[in-house]
Amino acid sequence: MAGSKHEKIETSVGLMIILTLLVVSVGGLVEIVPLFFQKSTTTPIPGVKPYEPLRLVGRDVYVREGCYNCHSQMIRPFRAETERYGHYSVAGEYVYDHPFQWGSKRTGPDLARVGGRYSDQWHRIHLNNPRDVVPESNMPAFPWLERPVVSSDIELKMQALRKVGVPYSDEEIAGAKKDLEGKTEMEAVIAYLQGLGIALQNVK
Ligand code: HEC
Repeated sequence: MAGSKHEKIETSVGLMIILTLLVVSVGGLVEIVPLFFQKSTTTPIPGVKPYEPLRLVGRDVYVREGCYNCHSQMIRPFRAETERYGHYSVAGEYVYDHPFQWGSKRTGPDLARVGGRYSDQWHRIHLNNPRDVVPESNMPAFPWLERPVVSSDIELKMQALRKVGVPYSDEEIAGAKKDLEGKTEMEAVIAYLQGLGIALQNVK
């Protein structure tokens, strides 16, 4: 329509950019802000607890080794996914994950519910050389994980997480170094993996 207000907007690049930004910002805020206050996204579901020190270290090793480059931790609510992996992921499972490990690349299987699926021993053999248990595997081996964990910064890590809302008590933080004594990175990653997704594991 000649001369309409819309024509004015659509033919003026500057105005178009400003109005587009306005619409996107308002729309974004309306979608994002409520998530910070919604119970379903801010409250852990029953059975989800803060990572104890060993699992926390294991999680950091997982991040350091780039496991997320090949493994997602997010089961989508589709039949093909739930039949393979179990209950789809829900927001309340991730409230203590800073940062979360959802990922989007699946060279290997999703790991969101891998906890308890294999024995510790299986994981150990698998991480030392995946081909020993899955002959066709193209996952890299991680034999160097058989070394002591670095525990010097565990208290600082837990304090930092407490600042963003993970409810660690002073006693838990004070006892963390002791919990890590004599542990290897391998044990830490396995402890981390064995706890993944167990809260909703037997729910169909
Ligand atoms: C280059 C890609 C790649 C990387 C990096 C990688 N993986 Fe894998 N992973 C795979 C593939 C492919 C499989 C499937 C074959 C197998 O079981 O080995 C797999 C399988 C697994 C499984 C078994 C899952 C199941 O449900 O059967 C676990 C557990 C696992 N990986 C953990 C890890 C951990 C922990 C790391 C980081 C230390 C890691 N992966 C890094 C590719 C990768």
